[in-house]
Amino acid sequence: MKLKNVLNIEQFADHAVLEQIHSLADKLMAQDKNGGMEPVLKGKIIALLFFEPSTRTRLSFSSAALKLGAQIITMENGMVSSSAAKGESIEDTIEMLNGYADAIIMRHPMEGASKRAAAAATVPYINGGDGGKEHPTQALYDAYTIHKEVGRLDNLHIAFGFDPLQSRTIRSLAILLSTYAGNHFTFVSPSNLRAAPDFLKQLRDNGATCDETEDIKTFSDADVLYTNRLQEERFSDHATFEKLRHVYRLTPDMITSKNKLILNPLPRIDEVSVEVDKLPIAGYFRNARNGVYVRAALLYKLFID
Ligand code: NCD
Repeated sequence: MKLKNVLNIEQFADHAVLEQIHSLADKLMAQDKNGGMEPVLKGKIIALLFFEPSTRTRLSFSSAALKLGAQIITMENGMVSSSAAKGESIEDTIEMLNGYADAIIMRHPMEGASKRAAAAATVPYINGGDGGKEHPTQALYDAYTIHKEVGRLDNLHIAFGFDPLQSRTIRSLAILLSTYAGNHFTFVSPSNLRAAPDFLKQLRDNGATCDETEDIKTFSDADVLYTNRLQEERFSDHATFEKLRHVYRLTPDMITSKNKLILNPLPRIDEVSVEVDKLPIAGYFRNARNGVYVRAALLYKLFID
């Protein structure tokens, strides 16, 4: 079945769709390594609208679209370079794009922007990051890499650090993994960046168990260490960010034989030392490469059954 939109991670609670996307990603990766993907999206135009900084999301979607034979039109720095700077509404911008492109991918700093954009879109729409709450396509490829490297998506202990309050990647991945049986989450953060109660409730309602701590030593017990930078741009008070930014830093001496995979959605800033990169279980750069294929699978599923 075609995908109409990728709006939030909750829509993948039906694991059948996720499994289809992951096996399609495997197939597209194999094609790419054997002479290139089939240009099944030839003649399609994909619009990338970015109102927040991005390296991986914009460029990996662009790469995926081009590999599948589509063409792209892109807008970066939309808050400054687009008519949003003149006060144009999201709905009016999307109304224009409906006529310019066959699919739209958007990232926006305002919570709920994606819902509004999808409601205004008459072409398929993908949420490329919505405020501090949602980043479904990142979670889809984080899960792909966990499955590929750890061998399962259930009965895992995953430690998340270090800004569960404001990190949309932690939030989306934890929600997705909470729909698999037997997962346990430990959220590591300073006390003022603790996971929001409604988010913890959602995870527990889905059947996951959760605990919270300020102590990075709890990383030693986890199968997967999911790290993410403190979300500097979402702090209302910069002094607080400066005070906290060096509190947590994963270094090789903290890694134990229980740890099977270290992820980070990237960019990595202060939270993972570069020495960690040399460890075989440091999977964040492999993960970013996998992202091209999972995103290609999503684009494919927008147009082809
Ligand atoms: C993430 C994001 O934008 O939320 N980046 C990404 O898409 N890989 C993570 C981050 O910026 O910290």
